[in-house]
Formats: sequence, C-alpha cells, structure tokens
Amino acid sequence: MRSAAWFGATGRSGMIYRSWMRNQGFGPEVFDGRPVIGIATSASELAPCNAHLHRVAEAVKRGVWQAGGFPLEFPTMATGETLMRPTAMLYRNLMAMEVEELIRANPLDGVVLLSGCDKTTPAMLMAAASVDVPAIMVTGGPMLNGKYRGRDVGSGTGVWRFEEDLKTGRITQEECFFAEGCMARSNGHCMTMGTASTMACMAEALGMQLPGSATWPAVDARRFETAQRAGQRIVGLVHDEVRPSAILTRQAFENAIRTNAAIGGSTNAIVHLLALAGRAGVPLELGDFDTLARPVPTLLDLMPSGRFLMEDFCSAGGLPVVLRRLAEAGLLHGDQLTVTGASIGANVADAECFNDEVITPVERPFQPAGAGTAVLRGNLCPDGAVIKQSAASPELMTHRGRALVFDSVEDYHRVCDDPELDVDADTVLVIRGAGPIGYPGMPEVSNVPLPKKLLEAGVTDMVRICDGRMSGTGYGTVVLHTAPESAVGGPLALVRTGDWISLDVPSRALTLEVGEEELARRKTQWQPDAPRHTSGYAWLYTQHVLQADRGADFDFLVGCRGHEVPRESH
Ligand code: FES
Ligand code: MG
Repeated sequence: MRSAAWFGATGRSGMIYRSWMRNQGFGPEVFDGRPVIGIATSASELAPCNAHLHRVAEAVKRGVWQAGGFPLEFPTMATGETLMRPTAMLYRNLMAMEVEELIRANPLDGVVLLSGCDKTTPAMLMAAASVDVPAIMVTGGPMLNGKYRGRDVGSGTGVWRFEEDLKTGRITQEECFFAEGCMARSNGHCMTMGTASTMACMAEALGMQLPGSATWPAVDARRFETAQRAGQRIVGLVHDEVRPSAILTRQAFENAIRTNAAIGGSTNAIVHLLALAGRAGVPLELGDFDTLARPVPTLLDLMPSGRFLMEDFCSAGGLPVVLRRLAEAGLLHGDQLTVTGASIGANVADAECFNDEVITPVERPFQPAGAGTAVLRGNLCPDGAVIKQSAASPELMTHRGRALVFDSVEDYHRVCDDPELDVDADTVLVIRGAGPIGYPGMPEVSNVPLPKKLLEAGVTDMVRICDGRMSGTGYGTVVLHTAPESAVGGPLALVRTGDWISLDVPSRALTLEVGEEELARRKTQWQPDAPRHTSGYAWLYTQHVLQADRGADFDFLVGCRGHEVPRESH
C-alpha cells in the first residue's frame, strides 16, 4: 500500500502523519494497513451541477468503511460551465493537474472521483490515467427533467430555443425569467445528452464507473446506492491492484467512441477522449472517431437531437441497454475489463429495455448508421474539423456558399441583429479566433445565433464554421474544432468575405475554393495577433496547449507519470 509509507512509518515522521489525522477523531485502528481511499469531491456552489457531491461522498464513505477501507474526502477545484469565463475549458487541464498531484502527494491507495459538470469528468479521468492508482468514477447524475407549462424542457437545449423565440418576439422577457426556474428543478448536471451526460456515459463505456451509474438522476436514491457500491468496490480494486492502465486500453476507447455514436453524444467527447488517450498512452486520432462511428446507428432519442431527456433514458434501462445492444450487434469489445472486475459484456448481459421509443433497437434505430458526428478534411482544415450531423439540417449536408468572415465572436454579435447585414440563407458564416490559443480556451461559442434578419424571414439553420466548440446541448449545422486554429495561422485565418466554401459531409470534405498560390500569398501577409496574456495561468495555457485534434491537453501533461511515493517531507 502507498499509504504504508506514511501511516506505517515509525519515528518522528510517522508520528506527524498519524497524530494530526487523529485530531479528526480517528482511532489508531485506521492506521492498521487498511487501504486508504481518497474521495475527490468537486463540489462547489460555483459549479451548480456539482453542488450536491458532498452528499454523494457520504454514501461513498459508507461503502469504503463497509469494505474495510479508510475513506478520506478531499476537495478539488470544480469547473462549472455556466459561470466560468472565458470558458470552463480553459481550466480543464488545470483541474486535471491539480487532481493528479493531490493523489500523488497524499497517502492514497485508491480514489473515488466525484464529478458532474462537463469538464470535471474528463479532468478527473485524465488525472487518474496520469497517476494510475486504482480509481472509480462516480458522476453526480443529471437533473430531473425540466418541466415548463406542462411539457418537458431540456437544460441548455431549451435556452437556445427560448433565445430564438425571444428574438423573434414569440415570447417575452418575463416568460424567459419564468422558464429559467422550470429548466433546473433539482440538483444535478444538464439532463439533455449534453457534454456532462455524454462524459458520464463515456466513463461507464470506458469501464471506469459502475454499470448504470451514468443515468441515475442526482436526487434518485439509487444514485446514492450506486455511490455506496463504488465505495465498497474501490477497496477490492486496491486489493486486486486493478489500475486505470488495465482498463483504459485501445479497445476501451473504441467502445467509448461507438457508444458516443449510439447515444448521439456531444462533440466535446472527441476532445476529451483524445486528451485522455494521450494520458493513457493509447494511440488514438481524430480520424478514428469517424471510422469507428460510421457503422453505428444512433439508438437514443434524446435532446438535443431527439425528444427525450436523461430521466427517461434512466427509466428505459440506462446505458447498460445501449451497451448490450451494441454488443449483440458486434459493435462492442465485450471482453474489455471494467471496475466491477468483470468484463463490460458480462456487466450488461442481462440489461433489460423498458422503453424502445427512448432506446431504439438496432434494427429500427432513431437514426441510421453514418448519421453521427463526422470528421471533415480539406484545405480549410488540414488537421481536421468535426460536424454533428444529428444536430444539423440534412439539406445543408452538401452546401456551397460565400463566406462572411468575423475575426471574433464579439465582432459577429455586434452586427448580427443589423437589418442591413449582407447575409442570406446560403451564406457560410466563418467565426475565427475561438480556438484553444486564440480565445483562449476553445469556448462553446461556435453555434452563434442566426442573424435576426434571417430568423425573421423564417430561416432556421445555416452553415457556420469555427475553430471553437459547441455546447453538447446545442444544435445547428456548425463545423467545429477546425484545426489548426486561426490564431496560429491555420487556413481559417486566410478566408476572406466573399470566398466560396463548399461543405460535403457525405464525402467528409470542407473546401475553401481559393487556389494554392493565392492562399500562399495571403499567408505571407498574415500576422498573428498580439498575445492576449503575457503572464499568469492563461499565459501558461497558451504556451502549452495542444490543438483540438490532440485533445487540447498541455504538451507537458501528456502521458502517465505514475504513483511512486514522493520523497520524505519532514
Ligand atoms: Fe453543468 Fe450543463 S452546465 S452540465
Ligand atoms: Mg457544455
């Protein structure tokens, strides 16, 4: 046990390690060599999706004590999507770094990781992969379904719809204030298939959280029962020395990618899984997300692409049903090890579906294979770009139009309500300066609202191209994660208003119809913007962040640094 280096020590150091712990009322028996389990809690009132995690931690502790471990809860930073500026994504790597170092520096033999909001799950998984002590994820669970004037309304997805209705005068500001409370009626993370729900499902599909754990609502008694079981189980994982490196294999990532396609998950999963694979030393590239997902139909009819919400998914049987259906269709590596100690196939072999409308069968899928997230290539995105077809308009999947270019999202917002704006339904909006370095932090701003003029004319969608991300709850025909980003002189930086751009999703092509010579000429004239930050964390971030196709991790955090006990502190 790592903890023996602390609590098993004699002399001055051992006395220091134990004595101060005893000020919390622990008797000497807790230092008898039993596994010490850290409960990493990203609870914060500033990250509302994680605000209830202390209660989840209590349930985990019960389980750890029951199984003969010694649980110690510790706080980690939390990255809440809704409040943090300029974007929570700027802080994912910082949180991953913090959690990794806290685990390594302390007498921990295993950890239970409590997350919720979007970035908190990948940050903790990345930390676990880099320190490689036995770990189980327990996500905090989604909010109950939003209820607005008698109908279900999804967090996130509802906001975009209410905004459009407000802009076109279909509803009043007072009505919007009223709707705010309707969308968020319990603890938990977004209950659409946004990034938080997606990453919870990814953790389960990777084998890092217990079966069914992704979908129990945050306030459901079974969320706490699952947490208690995770507490029991982590003690077993420590005794069996099952580490994340045994679970996070190439096959596990293939399972996750296919699961993401089957659930119609967030495009953000691509960035997070690429970063996590980098930590785990698993070769994975952007193109894998297209190749592996292509034969997978979308089974789940959930917002933003479909009708239902996470509570419905849970009642229908949850992720184990999706995994079972994938396994039966030959689309899952069923022998992949999970934190239960059994294979993923064995975990879900008996999963029962209680609602085929919510979780559709493979033979009658919600959306056919190949209609999921596509990876585009072309002279506008030499290192790739992605588009979520299920959240886009089928008639725009092949489209040719003239570019209307904005250097920043703020530039666009300043003019988007201008009735004189030179734009029509065929225009391709190009928004740059939203990449990892450019913004900085690669924010979720890419699905900019349509110009008011077009909304009033009844246009509901248009092609947008950006180097940023889109919220997992968002929708629209938006080309995302364009790499390299404009701030480093990627071709996106060279587009000019009036250029023709063609998007051909069936052929996975995104083309700027400008000759190579002309582009080379423009490149010689291109000047990078002066850096926005010259000190502090944001400066460090821009110095070391990798591009979207590498998961936007820091170059110096890639890989596993292990769990060796550091040098003596006293
Ligand atoms: Fe936290 Fe959506 S804002 S999960
Ligand atoms: Mg989000």
